[in-house]
Amino acid sequence: MRSNQELLNLFENFLSNHLPCATSFHPHFEKALSEMLDVGGKRFRPLLLLSVVESIHPLLVENALHVALGVEMMHTYSLIHDDLPCMDNAPLRRGHPTLHVSYDETTAVLVGDALNTHAFYCIANAPISAEIKIKLVSLLANDAGIDGMVLGQAIDCFFEDKLLTVEELSFLHVHKTAKLIAASLAMGALICESEKQSYEALYQFGLKLGLLFQVQDDIIDATLSSEEAGKPTGNDGHKNSFVNLLGLEGAQKEKEKLLLELDIELNKLDVILAQKLKSIVDDYFKH
Ligand code: IPE
Ligand code: IPE
Ligand code: MG
Ligand code: MG
Ligand code: MG
Repeated sequence: MRSNQELLNLFENFLSNHLPCATSFHPHFEKALSEMLDVGGKRFRPLLLLSVVESIHPLLVENALHVALGVEMMHTYSLIHDDLPCMDNAPLRRGHPTLHVSYDETTAVLVGDALNTHAFYCIANAPISAEIKIKLVSLLANDAGIDGMVLGQAIDCFFEDKLLTVEELSFLHVHKTAKLIAASLAMGALICESEKQSYEALYQFGLKLGLLFQVQDDIIDATLSSEEAGKPTGNDGHKNSFVNLLGLEGAQKEKEKLLLELDIELNKLDVILAQKLKSIVDDYFKH
């Protein structure tokens, strides 16, 4: 079984060999197109997808890299648009100036658009059966789009400075963050043609993992410096973040609670897969 670091290295290598190209006489579009992908990030979503494949059907990892890259492109587009002045107005991302700062808003909007569409190009052209690819495209479109990230972002931005109920808060974060994380795991299961039952269990685990991820992200905003985080922090003052609604201690308790609940969800999964996912939870959340 490849370690998490080995899977991450495999992904990084694949990414640097498959950066999107858009050669033309435009002075900077092609450079801007791959810039945010290239400067790093935790690669949490590709690692999840690849870990599922590694645990169930390791010979398919090479084929799955195309899909993992598509997911990372989708996520990177969401960050580029999230940082725009009309959203969170952030000048720094992944320790690097954001595209609307280095270039202009037009470039940032269009690079986001391009990564969104190119994500589907990568999946459509992956060495995987057409039947599975249709399911992958459908799932990603749904969970990154109007039944997922985009809807979550719309609510997140519209309800700044407006208090949400606990149920609404959960709806917001499930859509904004958890669904793409759940989809990353589920896409790994689709590639391996897992049974419906284990696919469902994995998706449910992913929703909880996604909530945990956003709780941690909100704690990062409240506790780390922007150098440590690689993005502006102390920026969630107007947001319905977990820290604003529950307090820092409350958010930390919520994190501990979700970690315990995740252990229960893991017991519903195949042992090898559960062990692999536990190692990712330990790497990303136990510090
Ligand atoms: C940040 O995502 C946005 C959220 C959904 C919380 P990441 O924390 O995964 O960002 P990168 O990919 O590491 O830059
Ligand atoms: C954004 O959440 C999540 C996305 C879907 C892009 P945040 O606004 O909290 O993400 P950061 O803190 O800027 O990374
Ligand atoms: Mg935001
Ligand atoms: Mg933001
Ligand atoms: Mg945040």
